[in-house]
Amino acid sequence: MAFVTLQNVTYKYPLTEKPVLQNINLQIQEGEFVSVIGPNGAGKSTLCYALAGFVPHFFKGEISGEIEVDGKLSSKSTLDTWVLNVGLAFQNPFNQISGAKYTVFEEIAFGLENIGVPRDEMKKRVEDAMSLTGISELADRSPYSLSGGQQQRVALTSILVMRPRLLVLDEPTSQMDPIGTREVFGVVRKMAEEGMTVVMVEHKVEWIAEFADRVIALKEGQILMEGKPNEVLTSDLLTENGFGVSRYTSTAREAKKQGLWKKQNLPVTLDEAVEGFKK
Ligand SMILES: Nc1ncnc2c1ncn2[C@@H]1O[C@H](COP(=O)(O)OP(=O)(O)O)[C@@H](O)[C@H]1O
Ligand SMILES: [Mg+2]
Repeated sequence: MAFVTLQNVTYKYPLTEKPVLQNINLQIQEGEFVSVIGPNGAGKSTLCYALAGFVPHFFKGEISGEIEVDGKLSSKSTLDTWVLNVGLAFQNPFNQISGAKYTVFEEIAFGLENIGVPRDEMKKRVEDAMSLTGISELADRSPYSLSGGQQQRVALTSILVMRPRLLVLDEPTSQMDPIGTREVFGVVRKMAEEGMTVVMVEHKVEWIAEFADRVIALKEGQILMEGKPNEVLTSDLLTENGFGVSRYTSTAREAKKQGLWKKQNLPVTLDEAVEGFKK
């Protein structure tokens, strides 16, 4: 049985006319790293809220269908218990900061403190998580003094330290440079290898192609396409629907028209492009 199942999920916010999610059917295996792409307003963040229990337990509105994680139904759970299994890093890391803590260390320890983890264990877990995401040197800084990219790392760390079974990340690298982005994808991949299930909303298709197991393309609240990263990210369907593609894909697509790209699959990453043009 899949670790995450969405069955016919349709959802409408209290004040909107049209459903923001429409008939979403989705299964995700334990330890799978799934990336969600889609234009602004496609419903990506709402899908994250649905997975994390905020829809419908916080945002209310009208929902139908079922959301199941680890054999438990969201409709039969409370947000308090749901969040013990599912961790969400919000699109805007600023929204994640508790406002109750003076240092990054305390901020990251906050969730563990709330569930009563003993002091020594807490310290070790926070230090390990900070070292994993490369922010050990920020321990004594104020969460509010950080750059956007640093805040995103802190937000990610404060979720990882809780060791959720399902990790949901909403554009976690949007304010990061390429080095930070690569590190985050690397950490996420590692978590997936260790059995954590990951859903990550992202726009950076080259990194998705390199690290994710599967891509889901969302448009107007519906799944337009899903499959292996290379397959989805180089598909004509995506281009026809106005999704952004990697520069290597568009270059090779042009080259193919002139007979200069001989491989079956178009590339997404630089490595794939170099490899293909060598042939
Ligand atoms: N709290 C809310 N109340 C009403 N409508 C919302 C709310 N949040 C998002 N929406 C609407 O739902 C749609 C999808 O939004 P969202 O899930 O944020 O998309 P994405 O993350 O793909 O940009 C948009 O039309 C947006 O205006
Ligand atoms: Mg969003």
